[in-house]
Amino acid sequence: MATCYRKIATLVSPAEAIGELTVITDAAMVVDDGRVTWLGKNSEAPACETEVDLTGKTVIPGFVDSHSHLVFGGERSEEFASRMTGKKYEAGGINSTVSATRRATAEELRANTAGLVQELYASGITTFEIKSGYGLDTETEKLSLEIASEFTEEVTFLGAHVVPAGSDPDEYTDLVAGKMLESITAKWVDVFCDTGAFTVAQAKKVLTAGIAAGLRPRMHANQLSNIGAIALAVELDCASVDHCTFLDDADIELLKNSNTVATLLPGAEFSTRSPYPQGGKLMKAGIAVALATDCNPGSSFTTSMVFCIAVAVRDMGFSVDQAIWAATKGGAMALRGNQGVLEVGSIADFVVLDAPNHIYLAYRPGVAIISQTFLQGREVYERR
Ligand code: NIG
Ligand code: FE
Repeated sequence: MATCYRKIATLVSPAEAIGELTVITDAAMVVDDGRVTWLGKNSEAPACETEVDLTGKTVIPGFVDSHSHLVFGGERSEEFASRMTGKKYEAGGINSTVSATRRATAEELRANTAGLVQELYASGITTFEIKSGYGLDTETEKLSLEIASEFTEEVTFLGAHVVPAGSDPDEYTDLVAGKMLESITAKWVDVFCDTGAFTVAQAKKVLTAGIAAGLRPRMHANQLSNIGAIALAVELDCASVDHCTFLDDADIELLKNSNTVATLLPGAEFSTRSPYPQGGKLMKAGIAVALATDCNPGSSFTTSMVFCIAVAVRDMGFSVDQAIWAATKGGAMALRGNQGVLEVGSIADFVVLDAPNHIYLAYRPGVAIISQTFLQGREVYERR
């Protein structure tokens, strides 16, 4: 049954061109059987069985969160507080969540993940990726991936998150690239290639083994330092290289001539007091940029894409349009998918904002303006 959403103040969809949006004011959109079947000016909309009046509201595509770590036990609020008074963020903190994750039951991990997924919907996110990476032994990595797959198709094996306490780095790398990889099921393979985590050579070993096993590569890189990981990401045609906090001009040149998306994670810089990478500069250079939450208990405990957009606009050199593009189409490109747009024929994953236009996403920081979230035309969140 067709539903016509009428009198939409502003209807927004990312354009093909990097960072640009198509904007229709006084708009309408028809959804039938989970897909967009018509959109345009309200005055030209066809009559439908069901009509919904969205006077004063904005409609945008659901956000695509291409980077999250939702399966974990415990929390690290004390670590956050100590960082805010001067302590440095280090990759080693991941091991405290590994201990808590191994101690948790499957039911606890599942319930924690389910709660965070509800938060994603409340934040307007309709497509999301979930990584493992807090098990770091075959059994707990396998369980983490099974739980992730109950919530999304975009499941990423991150056995190479850090070397677990007490293990030898090369032996652990061989375990991840060998037995662990053989035992798990996932769509993507990821490695944290940075100081305190894995070297470029170790990352290459894990990613090439993953590719040989039929997984598709992506990377965490250049968050804490620049050890030359971008060249590997481009060489292996990673769908995305994530963090990119420390990039040099040669990295920008490499990314420009690649199909690898640069995914920026404002929550991580915010929560680790790191310098913000400049996304606007990357987009201007012709690089497809995504914004993602990186939701995890250590470096970025947020599920709010709206928060990420506000920070990106305020501190990362993004225009509002560029930030929205990065949080929708950019995220979809980072997953090599076609979500994040509202066009005739596209899946009806969309969000209604309690705002007359999309600028309010950054203009009203910290204010809950997500009014409803729809997945394939079905409401999954309504603000009460
Ligand atoms: O993406 N950088 C590596 N992994 C996570 C942090 C994980 C943690 O601190 O628990 C990230 O920021
Ligand atoms: Fe991450």
